[in-house]
Amino acid sequence: MAVLLNLITLATAVAFASVAHASSSLQDATADLQHARNLLARYQLIDTHVDTPQVLRVLARQPLDMLPDLNISLPGQFDLPRARQGGVGGAFFTVWTPCQDLLGIDVGQDFQQPDQTIRDTIESIDLIREMIDYEPSLQYATTAAEAEQAFSNGKIAALIGMEGSHMLGNSLSTIRILARLGVRYLTLTHTCHSSFASSAGGGAGTDGSFLRPVHPGNGLTAIGRELVKELNRLGVIVDLSHVSDQTMTDVLDITDVPIAFTHSGARGVNDHPRNVPDEILARIGPGKNEGIIQSVLFKHFIDSNNATIPRVVDHVEYIALHTSRQHVGLASDFDGMGEVVEGMEDCSKWPSLVAEFIRRGWTDEEIKGLLGGNLLRVMRAVEQAAYRRRDERPSSAIYGKRTDLPASNWGGPNGAYLPGKVKAIVDRRHLRDEL
Ligand SMILES: *[C@@H]1O[C@H](CO)[C@@H](O)[C@H](O)[C@H]1NC(C)=O
Ligand SMILES: *[C@@H]1O[C@H](CO)[C@@H](O)[C@H](O)[C@H]1NC(C)=O
Repeated sequence: MAVLLNLITLATAVAFASVAHASSSLQDATADLQHARNLLARYQLIDTHVDTPQVLRVLARQPLDMLPDLNISLPGQFDLPRARQGGVGGAFFTVWTPCQDLLGIDVGQDFQQPDQTIRDTIESIDLIREMIDYEPSLQYATTAAEAEQAFSNGKIAALIGMEGSHMLGNSLSTIRILARLGVRYLTLTHTCHSSFASSAGGGAGTDGSFLRPVHPGNGLTAIGRELVKELNRLGVIVDLSHVSDQTMTDVLDITDVPIAFTHSGARGVNDHPRNVPDEILARIGPGKNEGIIQSVLFKHFIDSNNATIPRVVDHVEYIALHTSRQHVGLASDFDGMGEVVEGMEDCSKWPSLVAEFIRRGWTDEEIKGLLGGNLLRVMRAVEQAAYRRRDERPSSAIYGKRTDLPASNWGGPNGAYLPGKVKAIVDRRHLRDEL
């Protein structure tokens, strides 16, 4: 009898304890979420990859007419009411036009076929600049200091990144001008190779297969090396998300300023070419390249079978373990993906992700860095390196396979547009070429 009573007491106690445990973990979760909201209010979250310009262009024939909707509601994953709810303190809006192969355009031999890419690139920058001017809760920023200033004014810092060198028209002049227009990072490729660099391909879907190489070594080309040096000189961050492993290696071999992966996971957690391999992580961290790896929320980069918030944090913690907690950050790819992580459906959900870091014991100081502090450090380092090089001349290199320069055929009918002595030189060159 006594034994039976004891058993009943024990069973009751166990049941009680588990109810108490469940309610205390519920309380913990609520407290973590509240703590996360507080941190997001205090420290600036800068998402390095938001594709909203692309959504505006997809939705409207006259994309500028969509701007009022940004402050009301958009059908994608980002708009301002949800960004405010999610504690977004800054965003790099991406300039992106599809790789020519996605549009069914044959780029022709050596990517030389003319297309509308540069027009669309300029239109996208115009759209972003008009969006920032239109919307008082966005504040344009081109430097770390300006981004911080926007946040302390209670605004969302709005910066510009560019996703792919296929938009440069095989020219370094283009990136110099785009930098003047506000572009602050360049992802060296999107899902296609360009005249500058080799891509990993496989940007979308579950297919992890690499793209068939077209460049010797499948890394940077000669003009690609010039591009990286030019980006360093200009103070534009070199973004290695989307590029081939060899391009990552080639860049790390020649750059002496921090690089960024603006939206990537860890290959050690999910073996996908869009994620960063261990050999590359080994080259980033304290005393090495002081760059940064920002998270991504595309389902198939995280884990096709377990695309959850804890799994995203697995990626970030894995990267932090191989680099440091000062070399990681948060980014989404919102408005650029059809399938997202469960619980991170749009930009209002950031507190849930931050709460998982709190649950795993990250300190407030570490989370401050994760949200934006680490990225601001990288931005400052890139800006300072460019400042030190301010007297260096631009690279005069052109893509070796271009056939249009010197532009001898610009002389008009019978060279009528050319001053006499210029015409004489051009005519003699023609003779010389025939010899
Ligand atoms: C957008 O909404 C915010 C907050 O409600 C408001 O302060 C701002 O003026 C609005 N912007 C426009 C252009 O109406
Ligand atoms: C999903 O990932 C999380 C974090 O690693 C893990 O705790 C959980 O068990 C995983 N779920 C499945 C179904 O694999």
